[in-house]
Amino acid sequence: MNPGYSESLRSMKTLLAMGALLPPEMDALDEHFHVLRLWQSPDPEQTIKDNKDEIVAILSTYNGPRVSSALIEALPNLGMIAQFGAGYDNIDVAAARARDIPVTTTPDILTSDTADIALSLMLATSRRIVEADMFTRVGKWRSGPMPLGRTMRGKRVGILGAGRIGQAIAVRAAAFEMDIVYHGRTEKKDLPYPYYSSLEYMAKDVDFLVVSCTGGEQTKGLVDKSILKALGSKGFLINVARGSVVVYDDLIDALQAGTIAGAGLDVYPNEPAVPEELISMDQVVLLPHIGSATIETRTAMGRLTIENLLSWHDGKVLLTPLRLGCAIAEN
Ligand code: DGY
Repeated sequence: MNPGYSESLRSMKTLLAMGALLPPEMDALDEHFHVLRLWQSPDPEQTIKDNKDEIVAILSTYNGPRVSSALIEALPNLGMIAQFGAGYDNIDVAAARARDIPVTTTPDILTSDTADIALSLMLATSRRIVEADMFTRVGKWRSGPMPLGRTMRGKRVGILGAGRIGQAIAVRAAAFEMDIVYHGRTEKKDLPYPYYSSLEYMAKDVDFLVVSCTGGEQTKGLVDKSILKALGSKGFLINVARGSVVVYDDLIDALQAGTIAGAGLDVYPNEPAVPEELISMDQVVLLPHIGSATIETRTAMGRLTIENLLSWHDGKVLLTPLRLGCAIAEN
């Protein structure tokens, strides 16, 4: 036991928090665990070394440092990883599984908010909402009308990854009187939308290509220059999944050359960095990964993360474990 521990902390299990929940949820965690707040440590590596035998659980976040195999191996008494987020591409799930360490995530509760952001990006790009706001603010309206956008009604949207979020996007797109098609690893017979087994063929046939699949090795670079070429000069790319699914260098080239009409992006390969080239483009809308960023959803995500941790702490059944074989499921 680390000699720096006070008597009351000795009775509590030690939790390594790689990122923060909202303050009320952090307070709730403190009631049950001795929480090591890694982001507050002047030397995170040393903190982990000093506490390696005491740490029994990790709280990880979709946007925080990686839970690598090296970290998992460095913690001999690690018994659980609770992810704050639906995506888990920051966790070496195989390394956790090799040691039978359960991983939980926070699926479902962020589905609606993330789907809302996808639709917002479709509207913002095709109807030029951000540009129009600037046009109004700087007084350009006085000199003439805003250039026209493109309608969503009657257009076809291709969803890459028809999991929970993809399906919620489809429901919303239907309300906008759009045609819906999808591509994924396998056809889902219960979905009422046409399935494309080829992403490239689907991209050729749609006006909006919406990326809503899981991140990670299996989907890395799926949207590259061939897909963007297929999408074509009237097509819009929307990404609410992970930056890794799209080859951003190819995307920048396609936008610069007019190969596609525009892009609405909530995610990037090296967040919070955003490629400089994108920042100067009018035909893109850039959001800072806000798919789940509402007070309601982030609170619910935090509470579910805590419930999973406490279930593990008390030897109960985990609420939302990542199940074997689901490592490439859609979010
Ligand atoms: C997640 O939970 O994986 C989302 O990307 C958060 O917005």
